[in-house]
Amino acid sequence: MQELSVRHLLGIKDITPQDIQLIFETADNFKDVLNRPIKKVPSLRDITIANVFFENSTRTRLSFELAEKRLSADVINFSSSGSSVKKGETLLDTVNNILAMKVDMIVMRHSSPGAPHFLSKYIPANIVNAGDGTHEHPTQALLDSFSIRERLGEVAGKKVVIIGDILHSRVALSNIFALQKQGAEVMVCGPITLLPKYIKELGVKVETDVRKALAWCDVANVLRIQLERQQMKYFPSLREYTLYYGIDKKMLDSLNKEIVLMHPGPINRGVELSSDAADSHHSIILNQVENGVAIRMAVLYLLAQRG
Ligand code: NCD
Repeated sequence: MQELSVRHLLGIKDITPQDIQLIFETADNFKDVLNRPIKKVPSLRDITIANVFFENSTRTRLSFELAEKRLSADVINFSSSGSSVKKGETLLDTVNNILAMKVDMIVMRHSSPGAPHFLSKYIPANIVNAGDGTHEHPTQALLDSFSIRERLGEVAGKKVVIIGDILHSRVALSNIFALQKQGAEVMVCGPITLLPKYIKELGVKVETDVRKALAWCDVANVLRIQLERQQMKYFPSLREYTLYYGIDKKMLDSLNKEIVLMHPGPINRGVELSSDAADSHHSIILNQVENGVAIRMAVLYLLAQRG
């Protein structure tokens, strides 16, 4: 049986193209399961998983929990608000206390880049990074590529532009690694102040004109402005951002080709995307959410095989 090259999913940077293919093929099978009348398999019946969330989440947390339940794992949920973290407990102590209750896997979201990498050095459980600050969000990038593959047949050779707040986005970095590992061409587009200084070193194209970016691409993955991570002003106002970078249906229809429109959520309707664009036939935003469950089932299942 094929297995993953890693025993934690900390970031896309650490995994191989073969790992990505294995996750996709496994997710194909789980997607079939999710379309059956009985959407559940006994694969993780003996496994206990803790979802440990130190940062807000809707989709990612529900998606992991559902994936775990569809695999028949036992699930416990921890969120830092209302916990002893507020009483001064360290991250390592919090997690070791959870593990003392015989937990096998940790799915963790944390505001500090590298938090899951740090934990992986000290604890025996498998760790899945569900977003570490501005760094990586590997399962989001996997479900994004899986959704492109589903819509366009393959990821290799496709032109994908990631539009918006690249500087503060973990979705952007994980997507860049994932897309490149599968042979896609990647462009980033946004105001120059929201593009990291080192971005060219990642081997991506850089564009500041959103119309040129849309004319170039097969797929546009549009990101939210991460206002909660911005300690200073990177652009004059949200209104001005929308004027220059907001995408509406008229823009999409004026392209003389079909493009695929994606967004990891949560959408700020009327800022980066108009409602008529988000809800148009170009959009696969809800397919991304649907695929997230199958992808997370695949990741958890394959990591459990590694033990
Ligand atoms: C993203 C996140 O939290 O990194 N959302 C998600 O997980 N689907 C993106 C965002 O918050 O804008």
